[in-house]
Amino acid sequence: MSSDSEKHAAAEAALAYVEDGMVVGLGSGSTSLIFVKLLGERVKSGLKITGVPTSEETGRLAEELGIPLVSLQDGVQPDVDIDGSDEVDVNLSLIKGGGGKLLREKIVAFASKKVVIIVDSKKLVDKLGAFKLPVEVVPFSIAVVENAIKDIEGKPVLRKEKDGSIYITDENNWILDCDFGLIDDPKTLDEKLSSIPGIVEHGLFINLADIVLVGENRTVRKIEARSK
Ligand code: 5RP
Repeated sequence: MSSDSEKHAAAEAALAYVEDGMVVGLGSGSTSLIFVKLLGERVKSGLKITGVPTSEETGRLAEELGIPLVSLQDGVQPDVDIDGSDEVDVNLSLIKGGGGKLLREKIVAFASKKVVIIVDSKKLVDKLGAFKLPVEVVPFSIAVVENAIKDIEGKPVLRKEKDGSIYITDENNWILDCDFGLIDDPKTLDEKLSSIPGIVEHGLFINLADIVLVGENRTVRKIEARSK
């Protein structure tokens, strides 16, 4: 089965976690956009939910589909957050941010009562780190952060658009895609990165996922977090 079909299967399975009256975190990336489209169909058929988008792109799509939106700034708590991931390890730690939306994604996941991650089977790994870790950085601090990342054995590369211009996040920051090799201890790396001034957030999501739905061949495998 192709990655696209697996993404679709996982996105479809996530609909089971959405009930009438819920506030739903809407993730970013191709798998999440499949989920948002499926959710839009349910809303057209009468499902009453409100969405909290994790990116401008997801927000635009949700609006086009007639999904009512609300902002975290209004003080809502999402009942469930449905989002994709770039890698998922055996402890349900994640690398996210391939699509550059990690900051709002992490805030919405942190704020949500339940976090459901939807992925195709290629995203499951024994150890995180083959996918370069996205780190969102305040532009003012870029050289300082690059040096600090090199000091902890990382190789940072500033993310660029296809035309060579610097990639700008929804919060007007820059992204360093960082090669740390395979990450033996995600928690320690999380702490080291979080202590560097100028890093706004990074793509290691530890103890945030409650459930991972993995599209696998023709089925969807559900993996639950042991504890949070
Ligand atoms: C965006 C993300 C995405 O969830 C992640 O990149 C997975 O994307 P896709 O579903 O397209 O494989 O973290 O910042």
